[in-house]
Amino acid sequence: MKLDFPRYTERLGTVSIHAVQRIYELDSGKSKGFQSSHQTVRKFDYDEISNIMHDLAIVIPIKNEKLKLLEGVLSGIPNECLVIIVSNSSRSPVDRFAMESEAVRQLSRFMDKRMIIVHQQDSGLAEVFKKTGYDSILDSEGNIRSGKAEGMIIGLLAAKMYHKDYVGFIDSDNYVPGAVNEYVKIFAAGFGMSTTPYCNVRVSWVFKPKVRNNALQFSKWGRVSEITNRNLNALLAAITGFETEVIKTGNAGEHALSMPLAECLHYTSGYSIETRELIDILEKFGGLMPSEYPQIVDKGVEIFQIETRNPHFHEDKGMAHLNEMLEASLATIFGSKICTPDLKKALQDQLKQMTKKRIDYSKKYHMLEPINAIHMPEFEKGVREKANTFLRIGLR
Ligand code: GDP
Ligand code: CO
Repeated sequence: MKLDFPRYTERLGTVSIHAVQRIYELDSGKSKGFQSSHQTVRKFDYDEISNIMHDLAIVIPIKNEKLKLLEGVLSGIPNECLVIIVSNSSRSPVDRFAMESEAVRQLSRFMDKRMIIVHQQDSGLAEVFKKTGYDSILDSEGNIRSGKAEGMIIGLLAAKMYHKDYVGFIDSDNYVPGAVNEYVKIFAAGFGMSTTPYCNVRVSWVFKPKVRNNALQFSKWGRVSEITNRNLNALLAAITGFETEVIKTGNAGEHALSMPLAECLHYTSGYSIETRELIDILEKFGGLMPSEYPQIVDKGVEIFQIETRNPHFHEDKGMAHLNEMLEASLATIFGSKICTPDLKKALQDQLKQMTKKRIDYSKKYHMLEPINAIHMPEFEKGVREKANTFLRIGLR
């Protein structure tokens, strides 16, 4: 892969937010020793990408998606990666999870992939969370909460069980296996460029095509992304005093974290997680509030935003879903401890206009504690003994 070095970087405390980087070649060949007269382009050869992918787990959250789509997504993930599917699909009247597990088991025979599939409503797994004191993922009845973020946390923990250094998240409703393949390589390239162990790689889609009047229209930004990014940039501007457009990936569904960073972050429930991840990094390491992690402050955090070559085609989930995502993103910025009073007011107005009522967002988007609070040997033992849906394929 051949891509830009970051062209400019916004720095906030110890966090470097790099501007969007372009890919010049998806595949730049095997040989090393690329010579560039001026170093503006970084080349990764096969081996370099492959070595990073060995340490990378890909978490796929899934809830009642078409099996054909999941199959395509799996086929796009390079064989080096550990695949972790966290399903919140319905179990009755049709047991969709059983269908997913069967399909995955059958495919794994041909793909020869190492995979884990687990159900989010596994009561044994809920018990393990209770026992290890990780209550924030449980509801008042002691069940694991529904939501994409909650599924991602389970995926993170499975990756930690297998000592992965990096975790990438890829949605299961993607129509283009080649795009999935590109996302994984983008994650690897980002980690390969990072100069610190604390790194976040966010995918920026080059186009998100829509069908209008029977023709494909290659739109660049959806409405939700545009508004989220505008408000995130307004937050940066309010803090630094300089206007900026650096953030383009506030809602990126495809993103990756190095484990040492991932395990320290607070997350919020459901679809607010992508925005929260960014806000949490700024809260903890942006220099505006004291940090509990001097070792991270010392090394710094890098955020990469890398633009794909493949367009993004996924399931159209309709207007209500988009509004839900936007509300979650805006509420996340609104609820941040580093949000300035003026921006808070502006966000409140936007939210009120959307929802037509006042909502207590601190209750609506529940906070999930950092996973570094969980004692891993106890968690692992619990999973082996109690989590009946936790299937390992090609793994011990
Ligand atoms: P969008 O693409 O960001 O608009 O959102 P989607 O509705 O496509 O959701 C993103 C991914 O999360 C998809 O793969 C969904 O199947 C998955 N997903 C949604 N809700 C849940 C959930 O409660 N648990 C899990 N594990 N996955 C979920
Ligand atoms: Co989707």
